[in-house]
Amino acid sequence: MITLRQVSRWYPGSTTDRSRVLDQLELDLKKGEFLYVIGGTGAGKTTLLRMLATEELPSSGTLSLFGYDLSAVSPSTLRTIRRSISTIPQRVQLLSDLTVFENISMAARAAGSRASGRDSRDRIFELLEKLGLSAKRDRPASELSGGEAQRVAIAQALARKPELILADEPTGAQDPDSAWGILDLLLRENLSGTTVMIATHDREMVRRVRKKTAFLKNGRMQLHVEEGPCRF
Ligand SMILES: Nc1ncnc2c1ncn2[C@@H]1O[C@H](COP(=O)(O)OP(=O)(O)OP(=O)(O)O)[C@@H](O)[C@H]1O
Ligand SMILES: [Mg+2]
Repeated sequence: MITLRQVSRWYPGSTTDRSRVLDQLELDLKKGEFLYVIGGTGAGKTTLLRMLATEELPSSGTLSLFGYDLSAVSPSTLRTIRRSISTIPQRVQLLSDLTVFENISMAARAAGSRASGRDSRDRIFELLEKLGLSAKRDRPASELSGGEAQRVAIAQALARKPELILADEPTGAQDPDSAWGILDLLLRENLSGTTVMIATHDREMVRRVRKKTAFLKNGRMQLHVEEGPCRF
């Protein structure tokens, strides 16, 4: 589903010109896998997820999604790929005048997601329940706390029924109970076949729920399989 071959990313014009945020990354992630991406602040977690979300291109190397090399896809194939991916951004942006429900249903409909109609409404209600947001359903997004807004972004991502979820610190603004609830939700999606990647600082989570882990440091990536000893 995801293949990286010698993928590097650098930002021209930055003070450390041509210093590589990501350097020669290699990765093969199959459909249905679950991967944590960990590493210190500035290690490149968001950059990696943004490239996988097709929001940025690699500076060099080959990135393939669903078997398509992204440097050579047609606009219509790119649209199809984007419909299959949901992102949970590190910086959540909701439409503040719309209600929680409207924000989620709009995201579910946008880009022609696979969810539709009554099915979609029921799924949104179920997600709101699981995320502890039922009481906020008809409130405007402007009234939400940071943690609540982040949970709405998670509901937006899941309501689209994606094949790939790219979650950038999805528990960053949560208390421990909410964080475990969110991990549980993402693990269930994964059990039903969705491929999940989570960038996180939460080492406790990575230690307690062991999964394949990519550790980013100085631009390089080290992969650890879940059965191996925990080194974090
Ligand atoms: N548009 C940009 N222009 C220049 N430099 C950038 C740009 N975006 C990111 N960077 C740099 O790339 C590096 C990696 O940033 P990134 O946001 O991917 O880190 P991160 O691992 O997600 O960090 P955090 O844990 O703080 O979210 C940082 O040094 C950052 O300054
Ligand atoms: Mg980040």
